Amino acid sequence: MDADGWNARYDTTELVWSGEPNLFLPPEVEDLQPGRALDLACGEGRNAIWLATQGWDVTGVDFSSVGIAKAERLAAERGVQGTWIVGDATTWEPPAADFDLVVLFYLQLPAAGRRAAIRTAIRALAPDGTFLLVAHDLLNLTEGHGGPQDAAVLTTAEAVVDDLAAASLEVGGELVIERAGRVDRVARTDDGDRNAIDTMVRAHRMDVTPVSILDAEDSV
Ligand SMILES: C[S@@+](CC[C@H](N)C(=O)[O-])C[C@H]1O[C@@H](n2cnc3c(N)ncnc32)[C@H](O)[C@@H]1O
Repeated sequence: MDADGWNARYDTTELVWSGEPNLFLPPEVEDLQPGRALDLACGEGRNAIWLATQGWDVTGVDFSSVGIAKAERLAAERGVQGTWIVGDATTWEPPAADFDLVVLFYLQLPAAGRRAAIRTAIRALAPDGTFLLVAHDLLNLTEGHGGPQDAAVLTTAEAVVDDLAAASLEVGGELVIERAGRVDRVARTDDGDRNAIDTMVRAHRMDVTPVSILDAEDSV
C-alpha cells in the first residue's frame, strides 16, 4: 500500500493499532540503557511513545502524514516528547549514525523495499546500538492467523539476516546477530484466540572505537 492508502486507512478518530506497545518490544529492550531511539515506519507511534515513557529520546518516521499526526497527538496525550518525521523508510537519510536503538515493526514490503529500509535502519544505528525487527512471517500465510496474505511482503529471519549482512557491508561496521527466528503471538478474534507467527531479528552493532596511537604506544 502506498502513502495515500495508509493515509486513508489512518484517517479515523480511533487508533487503527492499539495505543500499547507490541508485546515483544518491552522484554527485548529491558536490558538496554535508554538513549536515542528511532522507530522506522512508526505508524501511529505506539512503540515510539512507549519507549519515550521509558526515558528514550524518540524519533518516529513514517511515510503517512496522517499516521505521523496521530502519533504526535498520542504523544501529547501521554505527556511525552518525540520528533515525528514524514519520510519514506526506503530512502530517508538519517542525519547521523547516532541512534542507540532502531526498531522496525511490521513494515511489510517486497524484498527490495525491505532491504532498503533495513539499510536505512543500519545507517542510523550508532556503534554499540541495537536493531530490532518484528514482522509477519512467511509461515503465517499457511500456519498462522492474520497479517498480509501476499507472500511477497512476508519475511523470514534468513532473509532479514541476509539484508543485514548486505547493509553492514555497505554501511561499514560489524553487526552481531543476537537472535533470529520465529515467535508466536496470540491474535484475539471474534471466533476465539488464534496463533500468529512473526519473524523477530535482533542485532547489535559492535562498538568499533579505534584504539588511539597514544593508547597503542602506552600498551607496548
Ligand atoms: C502495519 S503498520 C505498522 C506500524 C507500526 N510500526 C506499529 O507496529 O504499530 C505499517 C506502517 O508502515 C508504514 N509504511 C509502509 N511503507 C512505508 C515506507 N516505504 N516508508 C515509511 N513508512 C512506510 C505505513 O504507513 C504504516 O504506518
